[in-house]
Amino acid sequence: MTSAVDSLLEFLRFPSISTDPKNNSDVRACSDWLMKTLSGMGLSTERYETPGHPVVVAKNVHQKGKKNILIYGHYDVQPVDPVNLWTTPPFEPSIRNKIIYARGSADNKGQMLAHVMGVKATLEKHKELPVNLTFLFEGEEEIGSPNLRPFLEKHKAELPADLIVISDTGMVGPGIPTLTYSLRGIACLEVLIKGPQMDLHSGVFGGAVMNPLLAMARLMNSFHDPEGKVKVEGFYNNVKNVADWEKANWKNLPNSDEEIKTLTGVKKLFGEPGYNSREHTWARPTLEFNGAGGGYLGAGSKTVIPSQVILKISCRLVPEQKPAEVLKAVEAHIKKHMPSEVSYEIIPGHSGSPYYVDPFSDHGKAAQRALQSTFHRETAFIREGGSIPIVQDFKEVLGADTLLLGLSLPDCRAHSPDENFPVENYEQGILLNQYLLQELAK
Ligand code: BES
Ligand code: ZN
Repeated sequence: MTSAVDSLLEFLRFPSISTDPKNNSDVRACSDWLMKTLSGMGLSTERYETPGHPVVVAKNVHQKGKKNILIYGHYDVQPVDPVNLWTTPPFEPSIRNKIIYARGSADNKGQMLAHVMGVKATLEKHKELPVNLTFLFEGEEEIGSPNLRPFLEKHKAELPADLIVISDTGMVGPGIPTLTYSLRGIACLEVLIKGPQMDLHSGVFGGAVMNPLLAMARLMNSFHDPEGKVKVEGFYNNVKNVADWEKANWKNLPNSDEEIKTLTGVKKLFGEPGYNSREHTWARPTLEFNGAGGGYLGAGSKTVIPSQVILKISCRLVPEQKPAEVLKAVEAHIKKHMPSEVSYEIIPGHSGSPYYVDPFSDHGKAAQRALQSTFHRETAFIREGGSIPIVQDFKEVLGADTLLLGLSLPDCRAHSPDENFPVENYEQGILLNQYLLQELAK
């Protein structure tokens, strides 16, 4: 019989990168593997085609009177570049010091399979589950889940849910059971800045034509004040203060200033005055540049004025901010601050709403008991800076709240080279899921 760790290693070998069409068949092969694994456990399993990557749904036999629990995860992963910075190849999982290194190990295959293996263990022990379970696994989370909300709307009747459970966030530190009660939302856009019709000789035309790179630099410089506060008009509308109970709780967590410095290697932290780094990353909105490019970046120098340049922006949003409103405000800012010598085009990207849920609800308390049984420690209550856009859609379409029970560690390097997930966290996750099913059934 394959062990739980061996199953995870198999799962991690699929290069299921959702963003690159070159990997489409790998994403599909990964969904095949999932189908086989889930039906092998005795669950009824179905794959749904979408305009993008398939959705996999698996259920036990549902019975009247049992609670309906939907567990969500994503089997797609981020691209691997810069691939030369990986110690071992991203899709050849390697275990060093009891830590599994592979793309997707933390985000989200390791955490997702902990759910599956927890259910498998429960089935092996008790023959049936104490709840009506629906697994919903998608292959497009890392590209903004473009097809999942329509899927939920279409298949709502087949997706009964009193509660959603997701492990796709982090633990605040090793061995610290963590319940996440808020996620930031996201709103992305690209700005294409157009100058001359073609790349120009910078000696022949330079001085008489505005360089689109200069226009982009001026635009970029207009978005923040020197200390990092976003200057877009209306950007902070609807942003609520962090509650006193949250501040009091966060004071007891490991020092995030020190953590961010060691994890990232930056010289000095940066951010809006008046807030600490927990608040900066968990409870304040941001506007970030994710990419800026154009002109010559090859070896040596090439004296050229580029015809076009591109700027990629994403905003992280906090509860009660609306992606569409923030996008409108950012577009108005661009219109006002773009130098008049260039023209431009805005290409909207994906977006997703922020999420907030009461961690002390009955479901939240059941989760705390399961966490206590697994880790033998008091639960830490946190927000997270990352986004899982479908969580608010679950609330709106299926009418259910989500428990976010993250298992990855602060140094998991999600989206980076040497992404990793300790075997111990995987095993704790498997145990946690067994306790959780029992607690939720009570
Ligand atoms: N697992 C993350 C989300 C996450 C990371 C939540 C860390 C909390 C802490 C997820 O896979 C992810 O990366 N989401 C993207 C969403 C985007 C592509 C729409 C993100 O946050 O950038
Ligand atoms: Zn991710």
